[in-house]
Amino acid sequence: MRSFTIAWVGVTSVLCGWGNAQLFNSRWFNPILPGFHPDPSCIFHKPDETFYCASSSFNVFPGIPIHASKDLTNWRLIGHALNRKSQLPVLAESVGSTSGIWAPALRFHNGTFYLLTTMVHDKRADNDSSRWDNVIFSTRNLWDESKWTDAVHLDFEGYDISPHWDDQGNSYIVGSHAWKIAYGIHLNKVNLETGELLGDWTNLWNGTGGIAPEGPHIFKKDGWYYLMIAEGGTGLLHMETIARSKNLYGPYEANPANPILTNANTTEYFQAVGHADLFQDARGQWWGVALAVRSGPEWETFPMGRETVLYNATWEEGAWPRLENPIEGEMRGWSLPAIIQHLPGDGPWVDQGDNSLRFQPNTSIPPHFVYWRPPIPENYAVSPPGHANTLRLTPSNLNLTALDGNSPGPGGQTFISRRQVDTLFNFTFDLDFAPTIRGEEAGITLFLSQNHHARMGVAMLPLRNSTKIAPHFHFHAESYIPVPADVVVPVPTSWLNTPLTLSLRTVNVTHYVFGAGPADGSAPVKNLAYVGGDIISWGFTGALLGAYATTNGGGNGGAEAFVTNWRYRGWGQVRENWNGTGI
Ligand SMILES: *[C@@H]1O[C@H](CO)[C@@H](O)[C@H](O)[C@H]1NC(C)=O
Ligand SMILES: *[C@@H]1O[C@H](CO)[C@@H](O)[C@H](O)[C@H]1NC(C)=O
Ligand SMILES: *[C@@H]1O[C@H](CO)[C@@H](O)[C@H](O)[C@H]1NC(C)=O
Ligand SMILES: *[C@@H]1O[C@H](CO)[C@@H](O)[C@H](O)[C@H]1NC(C)=O
Ligand SMILES: *[C@@H]1O[C@H](CO)[C@@H](O)[C@H](O)[C@H]1NC(C)=O
Ligand SMILES: *[C@@H]1O[C@H](CO)[C@@H](O)[C@H](O)[C@H]1NC(C)=O
Ligand SMILES: *[C@@H]1O[C@H](CO)[C@@H](O)[C@H](O)[C@H]1NC(C)=O
Ligand SMILES: *[C@@H]1O[C@H](CO)[C@@H](O)[C@H](O)[C@H]1NC(C)=O
Ligand SMILES: *[C@@H]1O[C@H](CO)[C@@H](O)[C@H](O)[C@H]1NC(C)=O
Ligand SMILES: *[C@@H]1O[C@H](CO)[C@@H](O)[C@H](O)[C@H]1NC(C)=O
Ligand SMILES: *[C@@H]1O[C@H](CO)[C@@H](O)[C@H](O)[C@H]1NC(C)=O
Repeated sequence: MRSFTIAWVGVTSVLCGWGNAQLFNSRWFNPILPGFHPDPSCIFHKPDETFYCASSSFNVFPGIPIHASKDLTNWRLIGHALNRKSQLPVLAESVGSTSGIWAPALRFHNGTFYLLTTMVHDKRADNDSSRWDNVIFSTRNLWDESKWTDAVHLDFEGYDISPHWDDQGNSYIVGSHAWKIAYGIHLNKVNLETGELLGDWTNLWNGTGGIAPEGPHIFKKDGWYYLMIAEGGTGLLHMETIARSKNLYGPYEANPANPILTNANTTEYFQAVGHADLFQDARGQWWGVALAVRSGPEWETFPMGRETVLYNATWEEGAWPRLENPIEGEMRGWSLPAIIQHLPGDGPWVDQGDNSLRFQPNTSIPPHFVYWRPPIPENYAVSPPGHANTLRLTPSNLNLTALDGNSPGPGGQTFISRRQVDTLFNFTFDLDFAPTIRGEEAGITLFLSQNHHARMGVAMLPLRNSTKIAPHFHFHAESYIPVPADVVVPVPTSWLNTPLTLSLRTVNVTHYVFGAGPADGSAPVKNLAYVGGDIISWGFTGALLGAYATTNGGGNGGAEAFVTNWRYRGWGQVRENWNGTGI
């Protein structure tokens, strides 16, 4: 078993220098998009020599982040394909912790970038077909997110749609379904501008026998149509397989060497490798991305969920592609693309920290901040009158769990967050909050979903053996597995009527601690509750770290919470098997 290693913050890639980089082999570190960035789909765009990746966002808004890179290792957030509620209003009503936006496919054709994806609704009893809302977004300018179109709807009872164009200019989509109505991979001719289907669905292939054949992409090369898909489900048995045909409509023959990419049945730290995409750099070298989970085969603690990894590939003329296996934290391959030009834009790097954000007047909410479903805009304000340099949160009636742990409920949840992108990190902000009515609460949270999270708020609750109410620290967690008991302790008298620092940090690879202290530093931050990352190691999404405000159903409570000095600092990225000792 290999030893535990940490790559320290800032050391995210090893560049080979400018200009002649292609002379050397290189190494890079996975994941390239750490944290909640699953189901990647990436392209190399020749005109600006830039790589672009899209990833799934489920209920999070803004949704479908687009990252750009010149060198495949340093990735900048340049916008979100889904950035206006009006593009897809139904996301606001999404029911289910793993509903919302599933796997996107990003492609460029004839001057336009296309983003095909599926808005998944709650599964309604006996009507699977009401679940799948396939949509197309497009833009001619990836760098201006306001240019993305509204969703164009397309009728397909499945998910993971991806486009293909033939030499005559016809457009097609392939999509998948893991069960029932449309089992396997299906193709149709389509008008991508209107979503109109132009033919009948053809079932191309069902994969090699793994469950859930999905995530298809078609590549045409050397007179062959290659159909690459994921199988095995997005857990320990996940894998990528491929088939090919001389005819778009088949029949497709499977590669005898399948699966072409998997970490299944290994002891690797990166597991669940699959849902892949392939592209060539400016020199014609092949690269690929996939999702992977840093869990080890134990599959117990993986709070960041499914992340994006990079590998090199070889695809010789007339031959099947070979993808570098297994996926590891440190990979070696051919040289990374040289940085001829620096990447434009001012969006944050994917692994960037937050250095005391103060929400100054006339600034916007940072581009990497996300809400759970499209927000009610009035509930958030940067530097409102009388509270310069703060972010104001107006409480929602419902708390983070809301009514049933799955539905939005009226008024939504007031909650704003960023992704956890490091195994080890410190996250803090200062909270100015003066609750007066029972149930009023504002706090800090480690959030996967409404029914999988831990939170610690300052909450107005009755003092023990008393009818009086007073601010308490209230820790509460929810999961599908047992959680630590609630912690309810009165806020110390000397800390009342003063801003508090709320803290959430990792204590080791598996555990987090919530803490609080006076923001003026007159006393140290006190640890109040520990929780394991296993309680949010579930489903398809990844950890969010954020602030919330609620009245806990308390009707007329309305105390606003003012957040400032928002800090997120990563201090360790675990990329190899971790055997349970040490940090
Ligand atoms: C875990 O790894 C550490 C560091 O390499 C080593 O000292 C220790 O013996 C290992 N423990 C087990 C149980 O394998
Ligand atoms: C199932 O849902 C679809 C889409 O909403 C609808 O068209 C269809 O009528 C429903 N079928 C049944 C049996 O309710
Ligand atoms: C490419 O786009 C142009 C302008 O939008 C359009 O006129 C043309 O028909 C398109 N060509 C193909 C092959 O789709
Ligand atoms: C895929 O599976 C379905 C359901 O079992 C079957 O009807 C169909 O023939 C299979 N398709 C192919 C291409 O093998
Ligand atoms: C992993 O092992 C399981 C159980 O033996 C087997 O069903 C599966 O095909 C294996 N997967 C791979 C990719 O080797
Ligand atoms: C990846 O790159 C390494 C180093 O250049 C090479 O040895 C290996 O064959 C490549 N892997 C594939 C699948 O092409
Ligand atoms: C913020 O913008 C308003 C209106 O655009 C302007 O009047 C005000 O001076 C600006 N404040 C600061 C601090 O820049
Ligand atoms: C959260 O809200 C739900 C529904 O409004 C309520 O039943 C529950 O008691 C609240 N939780 C806490 C800790 O107040
Ligand atoms: C994280 O927080 C702990 C406890 O407050 C502190 O000791 C440590 O220095 C912090 N680390 C970083 C990198 O900020
Ligand atoms: C609160 O009341 C309970 C029973 O009513 C009693 O056992 C307990 O000692 C009291 N606690 C305090 C702190 O007064
Ligand atoms: C990690 O921290 C938790 C909470 O303090 C503790 O219970 C656990 O033993 C620690 N794990 C290791 C391997 O040190």
